[in-house]
Amino acid sequence: RSIPFPLFLQNRYYAKPGSQDKDKLIIFDTSLRDGEQSPGVTFTVEEKLEIARHLSNLGVDVIEAGFPIASQGDFDAVARIAKEVGPLMHGREKIGKPMRIAGLARATNKDVKRCYEAVSLAPLHRIHTFLATSDIHLNYKLKISRNECIERAASAVAYAKSLCDDVEFSSEDSGRSDKDFLCQVLGKVIEAGATTLNIPDTVGYTSPEEYGALIKYLIEHTPGSHKVIWSTHCHNDLGLATANTLSGITNGARQVEVTINGIGERAEVVMNIHTHPSSYPVYHTINTPLIYRTSTLVSSLSGMVVQPNKAIVGVNAFLHESGIHQDGVLKHKQTYEIIRPEDVGVFNVNLVLGKLSGRNAFRSRLEQLGYFDMNEDDFNKAFDRFKALADAKKRVTDHDLLALISDQVSSG
Ligand code: KIV
Ligand code: ZN
Repeated sequence: RSIPFPLFLQNRYYAKPGSQDKDKLIIFDTSLRDGEQSPGVTFTVEEKLEIARHLSNLGVDVIEAGFPIASQGDFDAVARIAKEVGPLMHGREKIGKPMRIAGLARATNKDVKRCYEAVSLAPLHRIHTFLATSDIHLNYKLKISRNECIERAASAVAYAKSLCDDVEFSSEDSGRSDKDFLCQVLGKVIEAGATTLNIPDTVGYTSPEEYGALIKYLIEHTPGSHKVIWSTHCHNDLGLATANTLSGITNGARQVEVTINGIGERAEVVMNIHTHPSSYPVYHTINTPLIYRTSTLVSSLSGMVVQPNKAIVGVNAFLHESGIHQDGVLKHKQTYEIIRPEDVGVFNVNLVLGKLSGRNAFRSRLEQLGYFDMNEDDFNKAFDRFKALADAKKRVTDHDLLALISDQVSSG
């Protein structure tokens, strides 16, 4: 069961005027696949559906809904997301199409077939197949030669292409792969029909300069490179995932693979582009006022607490403690704020509700947060939970309210 989305937030924050002469940046969210791989994170099918609906409303272009061969549960989740969320257009009119549903498959026909069976239930779907390309993975994990790697990758892509037009190939551990070998593998998978080439820095090893240079080199030296979309996929082991992703965009990538909330998280990528539109050759179509809600939902369902000082979605992101900052912000918000809180869906930074707040104050705050079409039953339940929380906590922030509603969704 899903509490409805706020209609009034929809369609407000898409590409900025004048940005249409730039390339569109494709946002590929893998919270449900790579995110779910984080230690301790598992979602039920209902939770995955709820997150997928949020991601569709957020304006995400492609989601990777799971790894269908991994288990019957993963297959079922991908299939249900494809069938139930795949066709949704609600709030996506500016983008003009529903969200594309992708699934992951190792580079074998069995994996690819299983993936296709699940994703093909969506009107727009993609098979995402991958194979490692670094010598360390080839020698120790896969125990295959470079030539076998090229054959396996090309053959899996050709088979995927026989089932589906939209095929993505990822060269796992690209960040530690030999560049010229990568060009050979990638050239062959383009020949076999891949439409997107994803360059994962699987172990988060590279620096922004290295990663950007790698993307540039691959685009310049891979045969047929102009026929495909190049994609980034950066892990955060050294804290550089956002910087590496942005560097990839500057050097030619037009898809970014990201997750919500540091179960890979990347609201940061979108808000960097949003805040510095002239610094990037791309525009995005993300409905940014839904960022905070989506972050809160994923945090509550994944059990991964967002650190208070996290950029954009941390609870302190828009709070000003120092007297000098408070004084400046009261005089003019831009003295210390580079992002308007409401642009990411934070509405009342300073106004808090407490145990003396009544139903009307509660209802109007929920409406500001977008929950204005809640049925009476859900509202009453939420109000009771709010009262209990206010007793225990004194000050109930927007962050608490969003967590409370998300929690209500997950507990049904
Ligand atoms: O990080 C990685 O290499 C991946 C691939 C499977 C795409 O997640
Ligand atoms: Zn990954």
